[in-house]
Amino acid sequence: MADRDRLSGDAAPWWSGATFYQVYVRSWQDSNGDGTGDLQGIYERLDYLGSLGIDGIWLSPTMPSPNTDWGYDVSDYKGVHPDLGTHEDLSRLVKEARNRGISVLLDLVPNHTSSAHPWFVEARSGPSAEYRDWYVWAPPKEGNAPPNNWISATGAPAWTYDETSGQYYLHNFLPTQPDLNWWNPAVHSEFESVLRYWWDRGVAGFRIDVAHGLYKDDQLRDDPPATDADPPQTRRGNLSPIYSEHRPEVHQVYRAWRNIADSYEPGRVLLGETWEFDHKRLGDYYGREAPELHLCFNFPFVFSGFSAKEIAKVVESSLAGLPAGATPTWTASNHDVGRFPTRWCGGDNRAVKAALLVMATLPGTMVLYYGDELGMTDVDVPPELQIDEMSLAQPGHPGRDRGRTPMPWTGEKNAGFTVPSARPWLPLGDHSSLNVQAEEADPQSVLNFWRRLGRLRRSRKIGAPSQLETLLLDDQCWVYRAGGVVTVANLSPEAARVLLPRQIGKVLVSSSPEKEAGDAGQRLSLGPWEVLVADEA
Ligand code: NOJ
Repeated sequence: MADRDRLSGDAAPWWSGATFYQVYVRSWQDSNGDGTGDLQGIYERLDYLGSLGIDGIWLSPTMPSPNTDWGYDVSDYKGVHPDLGTHEDLSRLVKEARNRGISVLLDLVPNHTSSAHPWFVEARSGPSAEYRDWYVWAPPKEGNAPPNNWISATGAPAWTYDETSGQYYLHNFLPTQPDLNWWNPAVHSEFESVLRYWWDRGVAGFRIDVAHGLYKDDQLRDDPPATDADPPQTRRGNLSPIYSEHRPEVHQVYRAWRNIADSYEPGRVLLGETWEFDHKRLGDYYGREAPELHLCFNFPFVFSGFSAKEIAKVVESSLAGLPAGATPTWTASNHDVGRFPTRWCGGDNRAVKAALLVMATLPGTMVLYYGDELGMTDVDVPPELQIDEMSLAQPGHPGRDRGRTPMPWTGEKNAGFTVPSARPWLPLGDHSSLNVQAEEADPQSVLNFWRRLGRLRRSRKIGAPSQLETLLLDDQCWVYRAGGVVTVANLSPEAARVLLPRQIGKVLVSSSPEKEAGDAGQRLSLGPWEVLVADEA
């Protein structure tokens, strides 16, 4: 058993305090010149992943899919999408990554399947079909109206009428993504077999899509109107989706899955896409009476403003809301919300370094999105090249394609993502200077900063469970002690002076590398967005 699989001396399992890296497979590295990234491409770039000091990668959907939602519409849970490679490619990647101390997580989509999945195709054949009850069907209301008022993620009704049977089926996302019926025990057995299937093949775990949504109200009650208590990100239209999502029955699913995960040696990991904005309710997904998910995405953090007071507040609320011993997660970009170097930092690399340093020095597990380590920003994808149906269905939506564009490896045509003659599946941004090769050559680059930081985080186990103590918080700066180090962060575009309550020690990593040689002291002058992490004393 590798060292990292053991419980460490302080009893933290390997995933607690780890650094994960989300690889959006289609956009990372194309190995066969078809313009789409693939598994072999990731295999060929394992040295790069190793250089980032990460512990695991989460691969965006790898299973066969007609791609109406780019893999989040699965047509075979035990397969590999032919665009991305084969079972052998995935096994080789999992094995070689593991040899280098990098675990592989797959994306699992249990809330819905593709409408092209054989289960749904069969279910659709009529009310007495074998798989009928695997999905959520209901008769029309008067005047052929949908069974209730539920709204899908696109803002359109969550029901589509099926001519053959004269009933509606439910889809909380696109009509091509029918929701599974988790009241049916056969669905539970099937997904348990999917978990085991991949776990038996050495996959370390899963990121669970729509983890808060599997169960729906058994009486299909109307969702009530949203109130001020519903953050905009959780609303469906102007409704509060308390009956169409967030049902308490979902917790029994995760208790069962956790038991299976923990029956493996070493333990496997479950990371939920828990779209929950109340930290106490988010904490419920870790399990209160019995363990559930190991890790849960922290969307209040993702959507926080990026100022000292806002970040300190959301971090403190995260730490207070989760059950004792639960590991919070810190992430700021993904394939849905776009990239933090744009949202938080307006493309200013000083702010990007500040954000990376704060996330890397909080107690908990950190998830980078590919390109975060370069300061990669969202790319303006012209309307004629936009391909994300979910955002195209929502007038005024800025589009998710902008955060999914290919990884820039070099400054050449197609950036080394694919061969220069290919047409990348999404356009690249301006990669003349923002690319791996250029950043490797520049000691001040975001990439070289991240590498120093990532190494420190790993060697000092900074993310391991610890208490966080705020030493100073004002409109510009947040200074805190956690994980055996002190973080000093000027999260503002103005220079700042801070007087700390006590002396702190040697600067370990700083966005001003000349400071890395000396002691931080007690009185510090910080440039705009300047950050450092130092020994306690
Ligand atoms: C969340 C995924 O991250 C997103 O990309 C997808 O569209 C929805 N779930 C539906 O699966």
